[in-house]
Amino acid sequence: MRALTWHGKHDVRMETVDDPEIINPRDAIIKVTSTAICGSDLHLYDGFIPTMKSGDILGHEFMGEVVETGARSTLQKGQRVVVPFTISCGSCYFCQKHQYSCCDNSNPADNQDISEIGYGNRMAGLFGYSHMTGGYAGGQAEYVRVPYSDVGPIVVPNGVEDDKVLFLSDILPTGWMAAENADIEPGDTVAVWGCGPVGLFAIQSAMLMGANRIIAIDHFPNRLELAAKFGAETINFNDVKVYDALMEMTGGIGPDAVIDSVGLEAHGLFVDNVWDQIKVSTFMGTDRIHALRQVILACRKGGRVSVPAVYGGFVDKFPMGAFMEKGLTMKTGQTHVQHYTPGLLNAIMDGKLDTTFLISHHLPLENAPEGYKLFHDHQNETTKIVLRPGEEKIRVEMPA
Ligand SMILES: NC(=O)c1ccc[n+]([C@@H]2O[C@H](COP(=O)([O-])OP(=O)(O)OC[C@H]3O[C@@H](n4cnc5c(N)ncnc54)[C@H](O)[C@@H]3O)[C@@H](O)[C@H]2O)c1
Ligand SMILES: [Zn+2]
Ligand SMILES: [Zn+2]
Repeated sequence: MRALTWHGKHDVRMETVDDPEIINPRDAIIKVTSTAICGSDLHLYDGFIPTMKSGDILGHEFMGEVVETGARSTLQKGQRVVVPFTISCGSCYFCQKHQYSCCDNSNPADNQDISEIGYGNRMAGLFGYSHMTGGYAGGQAEYVRVPYSDVGPIVVPNGVEDDKVLFLSDILPTGWMAAENADIEPGDTVAVWGCGPVGLFAIQSAMLMGANRIIAIDHFPNRLELAAKFGAETINFNDVKVYDALMEMTGGIGPDAVIDSVGLEAHGLFVDNVWDQIKVSTFMGTDRIHALRQVILACRKGGRVSVPAVYGGFVDKFPMGAFMEKGLTMKTGQTHVQHYTPGLLNAIMDGKLDTTFLISHHLPLENAPEGYKLFHDHQNETTKIVLRPGEEKIRVEMPA
């Protein structure tokens, strides 16, 4: 089959690889019809996530048709399913608590010690996201093996187009959980850093949860414009000082809740960000946490900090003093996707959530390497790319 493989920093390739096979009775094989590139994939593309191996198949946002089932899969051939990026057994201590991204069983034993050393506990398995999270082949491919297919995949009614439901695999539940983790109360002002797909879905979710005001922060005009469509006021960090603007907009108090949907690759010519960049490039640091520092400093006293954004290592100059002295609360984590998919599918079907507004490109899977370059280099013009296997390669124009 054809699949997108990782070979190092900024080196991803379409290659012909072996078809996946059923290994365990609970597996299913999915023929992928749509798959997307995520901001998390950019962290792999930029070489920030350790334990990648040359030839690893990428992709954790995908959906398709069931073509093969193991003896204990509950799926049926021909069903259309969206697959959560988190691989979860459904029955361990964590899955029982619906903390699916903490599953204790989905990371194969020979990979567990990597995260046990780094994080103190083994991580759950994730599709296409390094050997620390199981080394599973991802879904930017024609076919993919889905373990625990009786727990994760959600069956989609016929007649609903892929674009409407594809993001149930990751960014929609992630934006929703980000807003839920902000514990929004009616009347709240919520500030959201980063207007990528995760930030945009967090904004839409926060609105539905009753936020009074949402303030969106980014530097790409097109992305800020999408945030404004959902009623957010916007701050372009190239034009004004974010902290000062937020204080002015909130009567000197700061937002009640803040959401960091930027993560470990913060942009911007800020002193602390340049410092982080130097440390990362000289292997003396791991993450650029400018956005995380800023959300903590800008949040009101007693406020809530939600961090859907990915961080990977040990961070420098974390404002622990401000965090403690202001009495803040922080919630974070890989999304417990399976916990949210049924409710969010209903919300999509009822027309309460708009899931297609952020798609800027549809490309054949064969063009995935150009897709990564577009999403990485031209974020103003590229909000979300959906890839489709089986289509002929086309010529892709890069924006000027
Ligand atoms: N928790 C989870 O399960 C989960 C799931 C999906 C994605 N993520 C993470 O969420 C983050 C966002 O994902 P995405 O797909 O939206 O990525 P993205 O790269 O498309 O968007 C990030 C946005 O942040 C903006 N940004 C950069 N620096 C900023 C700054 N200093 N201030 C304000 N905005 C800034 C960028 O301009 C960009 O628009 C990533 O870290 C991704 O890995 C987490
Ligand atoms: Zn993702
Ligand atoms: Zn489990």
